[in-house]
Amino acid sequence: MLTAEQNDELTQVDAGTPMGEVLRRYWYPVAFARELAEFPVKRVELLGEFFAVWRSPSGRYGIVPEACPHRKASLAYGVVESDGLRCPYHGWVFDEDGVCVEQPAERDDTRFGARVSAQAGVAEEMGGLVWAYVGPHSAEDPAPRLPRFDTYVMEGFRDIGWADLPCNYVQIMENAVDPHHVEWLHGRYFQFIGRHEGFTSPASFAKKHQKVGFTPFEWGIIKRRVLEGASEENDDWKVGHPLVFPYNMRVGGGGVHQMQIRVPINRTTTRFMLYTVHRPEEGYEHVEQPVVPDYEIPVLDAKGRHVVNYVEGQDIMAWVTQGAITDRTTEHLGRSDIGVAMLRKLFREQMDRVARGEDPLGTIREDHERIDLPCEKDKFHAGAQFALDFCDMGSTRFSPMLDAIKKIHVSAAERVGIELVGSEKAGSEQAGSEKAGSEKAGS
Ligand code: FES
Ligand SMILES: [Fe+2]
Repeated sequence: MLTAEQNDELTQVDAGTPMGEVLRRYWYPVAFARELAEFPVKRVELLGEFFAVWRSPSGRYGIVPEACPHRKASLAYGVVESDGLRCPYHGWVFDEDGVCVEQPAERDDTRFGARVSAQAGVAEEMGGLVWAYVGPHSAEDPAPRLPRFDTYVMEGFRDIGWADLPCNYVQIMENAVDPHHVEWLHGRYFQFIGRHEGFTSPASFAKKHQKVGFTPFEWGIIKRRVLEGASEENDDWKVGHPLVFPYNMRVGGGGVHQMQIRVPINRTTTRFMLYTVHRPEEGYEHVEQPVVPDYEIPVLDAKGRHVVNYVEGQDIMAWVTQGAITDRTTEHLGRSDIGVAMLRKLFREQMDRVARGEDPLGTIREDHERIDLPCEKDKFHAGAQFALDFCDMGSTRFSPMLDAIKKIHVSAAERVGIELVGSEKAGSEQAGSEKAGSEKAGS
């Protein structure tokens, strides 16, 4: 249980608040690269502030606050030019550093332009996403590097599911250190829904937790579990998977690699993204993708009830029904909530670090190619079968790439002599066909 003040502090995202200042030390995905290829400037909201993000004709990215420093017209309606973003109203131009490089209606000899700048962030592309850093930085004290986590840079077949959720991101992060919910929300509750809707939910999700564990590490907290019928020798315990501070969780297994991203758009809106790479451990043959496809996952049905017949829909129901900002002053944490308590302490420690002028956990300043995160391969000790359950029972069922993805897993398994249950239902489309993706991408 927290006091009202502690809950307030924990859930802030705005500049000038202790948590808002922690959050401004990280990079966030703010757009799909294909969006800015289709139209080169976009209005985005991040941490309760609006920005214009753009892609220059040479392929470089920039991000500035949306309101033009002149008289506040929206730069999200700007003209993208080779040397920057031109305000639609009176034509001032801002380069990628936010420097005002042109003021057409001002006299050249006033040097007025030199005194004006748009407080720019830094933006770059990785893995089909446009990433932005909007925190403090200067020539002497540059922005931290964009962490190149394995999922974003590994070879494999990708798609990105997303939904904007009406709740604070912290309750979603608390779910990332709450292993017990799996056997209930994705086990018992899934079975209940399946009985009523006429499908069978995956048995592996209902396995009882015998033991859970949490290990702090350099990127966050590793979560571990021993399920019934397994031991500490199984990947679920020996390797586990991490909450990546402050807004991600790395999951996977059976040749599926996923980053679950929870971007704090504002205090009560979180963009939930499922960045998934399919790359079976054995028998994989790479398929090129010119564009990384994205698709919106359903949250509510036509009656306004949560869609709960898939795994992430169940999670979303739990997060959103906790309230826009859940009331932690009246909750009752038990022994099984030890991970939640550990996470809140970690948030608190980062507020102190930033207040002392230090970098918070999981910021990186060194050049690097790729950061490999620990993640179990044999999830729920279900082997390669986990991939098909993942496709049929998770958000991937809504992906325009579903058929191609299932075919990748089934074909890879066949090449190494494994037959997956449900493989006969795997799609007839050729893996790698971009047809469905380009039609439905962004829908
Ligand atoms: S408001 Fe942007 S140039 Fe005038
Ligand atoms: Fe879950």
